[in-house]
Amino acid sequence: MSTLGTIGLVNGGGDAPGLNAVTRAVVRTTYYQYGGKVLGSFDGFDGFIWPEKSKELTPIQVRGILPWGGTILGSNNRGNPFRYKVVENGQMVERDFSQVAIDNIKKLGLEAVIVVGGDGTQSIARDLHRRGVPLVGVPKTIDNDLSATDVTFGFDTALHTVTDALDKLHTTAESHGRVMILEVMGRDAGWIALHGGVAGGAEIILIPEIPFRTERILAKIDARKAAGHRFCVVIVAEGCKLQDDDPIWLAYKHEPQFVEKKSIGNLLGALLSRGSPHDVRVTVLGHLQRGGSPSPFDRLLGTRLGSAAVDLVVQKQFGRMVCLRGNTISSCTLDEAVGRLKMVPPDCDIVRAARAIGISFGAE
Ligand code: F6P
Repeated sequence: MSTLGTIGLVNGGGDAPGLNAVTRAVVRTTYYQYGGKVLGSFDGFDGFIWPEKSKELTPIQVRGILPWGGTILGSNNRGNPFRYKVVENGQMVERDFSQVAIDNIKKLGLEAVIVVGGDGTQSIARDLHRRGVPLVGVPKTIDNDLSATDVTFGFDTALHTVTDALDKLHTTAESHGRVMILEVMGRDAGWIALHGGVAGGAEIILIPEIPFRTERILAKIDARKAAGHRFCVVIVAEGCKLQDDDPIWLAYKHEPQFVEKKSIGNLLGALLSRGSPHDVRVTVLGHLQRGGSPSPFDRLLGTRLGSAAVDLVVQKQFGRMVCLRGNTISSCTLDEAVGRLKMVPPDCDIVRAARAIGISFGAE
């Protein structure tokens, strides 16, 4: 049997349900399968910049964490060692601490490092690997927008939260005859809005990949009213955009209420309310989507990816990231993994099915 010494473990970027399943799987696989040890870097890469923030994780310490949201390691999306933010003379400045981190990884005697994170964190991992750190990546984001993997853990749990929110918003929408807008995460891609919107029965789904027109949304609401539905539920990804020549936006954008920076959900709410009889309410779901106990799917995926990452370390396949392809755990290079976001194809079968059942994307 192959054996391992000590490996490091980092969680970078925003938390996602399922991170603790990865941590548990990495610790248990290293310990039980390969007789090794895991040193957790607390608060992202901080544990390599300040080694006192690195601590050994044993199977006893990861006992019971499978149902927990967040990450027991803590995370940090300001802790890029290449551009580390520090306060100097009352000013926030960026300093390059990468060599300190690389030296400490050696001093801590780490045979390899497993880095769990999204696109930003995996680019840091790739750059550390280019500088000689033996390293393996594990993909993570609730947004599900990494092209190297079919699904990321955290996405499924987020969908449960979004679907539950839509179910609840429907009751007020119906009772009061309102237009209820739910803004969800998805800075670049619309996966959460699309899947959540279909699962939660939204009538209008707005995603970054399909810029919308306000008049098309008003037309859809009016058509529903004419057909006897006095309410409408709209889901909006935080990164979605108006079409550049949207006439309603162009007409109102100089008004004081629109000049102040609003989230897209609030902006849409104000546009739909302006000069129309609709009673509109906006809910921004925010970080509720990143919280909560991971779904069984996310626990399973986190466990599979964490365990497979340790296998890659043992096989010395460094500079790679584990991923899910179909229903099989596989891997790709970190170069293939980063900088290529997976966007919703506007003609994919879910968008087609949504359109077929009468859902509007605000563009047709
Ligand atoms: O990247 C995942 C994500 O959920 C994005 O959709 C969202 O914009 C971002 O995290 C929010 O991050 P933060 O916690 O830093 O506000």
